[in-house]
Amino acid sequence: MRRFAPQSIRPLHTLLLVFLASAALSAPVWGQAQETAISDGGMVASQQWIASQVGADVLAAGGNAVDAAIATGFALAVTHPTAGNIGGGGFMVIRFPNGQSTTVDFREKAPLASHPDMWLDEDGAYSFEVHHRSHSAVGVPGTVAGFDKAHRLYGAADWTALVAPSVELANDGFELSPTLAGSMARFASGRASQYEATVAAFTNAGAPYAAGDTWRQPDLGRTLERIRDDRADGFYRGATARLIAAEMRRGGGLITEEDLDRYEARERSAIEGTYRGYDVISMPPPSSGGVAIVAALNILEEYDLASMGHNSAEYLHHVAEAMRRAFRDRAMYLADADFVDVPVQRLTSKDYAAWLRRDLDSERASISHPSDVVQPYESPETTHYSVVDDDGMAVSVTYTLESGYGSGIVVPGGGFLLNNEMGDFNAGPGLTNASGLIGTEPNLARPQQRMLSSMSPSILARDGDLVAVVGSPGGRTIINTTLQLILNMVDFDMDIQEAVDAPRMHHQWLPDRIRLEADAVGSDVIQTLEELGHIVQMGGRQGSANAVGVDPRTGERMGAPDPRSTDAGAAGAPGREGER
Ligand code: DON
Repeated sequence: MRRFAPQSIRPLHTLLLVFLASAALSAPVWGQAQETAISDGGMVASQQWIASQVGADVLAAGGNAVDAAIATGFALAVTHPTAGNIGGGGFMVIRFPNGQSTTVDFREKAPLASHPDMWLDEDGAYSFEVHHRSHSAVGVPGTVAGFDKAHRLYGAADWTALVAPSVELANDGFELSPTLAGSMARFASGRASQYEATVAAFTNAGAPYAAGDTWRQPDLGRTLERIRDDRADGFYRGATARLIAAEMRRGGGLITEEDLDRYEARERSAIEGTYRGYDVISMPPPSSGGVAIVAALNILEEYDLASMGHNSAEYLHHVAEAMRRAFRDRAMYLADADFVDVPVQRLTSKDYAAWLRRDLDSERASISHPSDVVQPYESPETTHYSVVDDDGMAVSVTYTLESGYGSGIVVPGGGFLLNNEMGDFNAGPGLTNASGLIGTEPNLARPQQRMLSSMSPSILARDGDLVAVVGSPGGRTIINTTLQLILNMVDFDMDIQEAVDAPRMHHQWLPDRIRLEADAVGSDVIQTLEELGHIVQMGGRQGSANAVGVDPRTGERMGAPDPRSTDAGAAGAPGREGER
């Protein structure tokens, strides 16, 4: 464990300031991942330890949590290319030291030329490939506009200082970890091989990079320099916008310079719920996460989960039944609230949860009805990070390219990957069927609409004090991973690292089954669940919940990287001694 005690902070602090002031960034090595970090000041936990360190450096230099979140986000776009991005989108949830909260929605939007049946051919046949893998799967990116908006509203540091570390990481390079080198080699020889600019960016003149190689991304460096100098205009207007639009024309995509020019991030009120005296702050639509998490917690509040035992059959049954109901409502009601009337108040109310509990049988699994909606699992590639600053401002960010490496399309000359987020819109009107397509109205592609998301960056507080910053990647499993982090802390008294480490389960209404991480439970638990009427599937790992917790006794911040991600890391910044 790396501990930032006051004595050891001072020299480190000085070093960091020198580091920030110096123009040259030496190539970092990859050996510092996965340790829990403790600090009496600020903390950043993310899926890639170099990016966490970039955020912690911003905190150490006096930036606030929003500044650090922006710097970490830009750094992940360089060091964690599977999901870190400037060509995708996401959500930021902020809790201020006075307990108030807000969110910034920078979810991608459908281009102006989109329409609900854009993934059907002339004969009305649906194409998964076009929906998820083509140039028309690319939504208008939101990340740079989101960071710009968050900074204008709540940032304290100079914008240039937030982008500069990433410019240097892209230009000077960083040392590839075994995990990333292996992943890039598979990507470049597989899905990316059809795109010349992608192969050029992800290989060393056509040959795969190896662990330990220094990876430089000069085109991305130039794009980041434009963003450093011109903020969002460096992406949505001028050279970068022209490069994106040219690639769209070349590949038959829909995004034009006008789409880019019109993109706007939105500040929205957070979803706020309560659970056993804790405050739960999360993301509103177009995220489905905040509503679904609060709805599930409201259902579960009635049961004594602690006495059931963590990951006991009884506990897993009740959590699965709550998830089943929250996910059914997700499919029926949730979409971009700028386009569709979403009954958020009702879905998150305690009364409604009591109504949902009326047919929840503690002795028997309910049955999900496929005649309503069926949706497939999603790929596990998005990324979540958590930031707390010395003053207690907390920022929770989840952002994504959708699939790992998104659409696989690197913008030629721009050096960055584009998302395939349009795949989160429903397939087409009336297309719902038992094999996993969905065609319900609210989440159909319409010009400028944002596609429904499961990303659930969340914050937990109690009696006015910050408790934890949580979230995860993992498609629909995000909602359940985040829910279980909260249950682990509140019902089972785990500290943040224990809550992150604990084995996870998933139920999403349809397909009607419980999925458990490998070795999560013994065969007796599986047998009892099956006797209750559940289908149980074991295997794999779920999410990457890089979180920050606050020790209620000392106020120390604990950065908890998720052991499921080999390159995840937490980095602390020194506090102002004696102020807490
Ligand atoms: O926004 C969403 O819900 C999805 N596009 C997120 C995709 C995802 O999490 C994939 N993997 N982690």
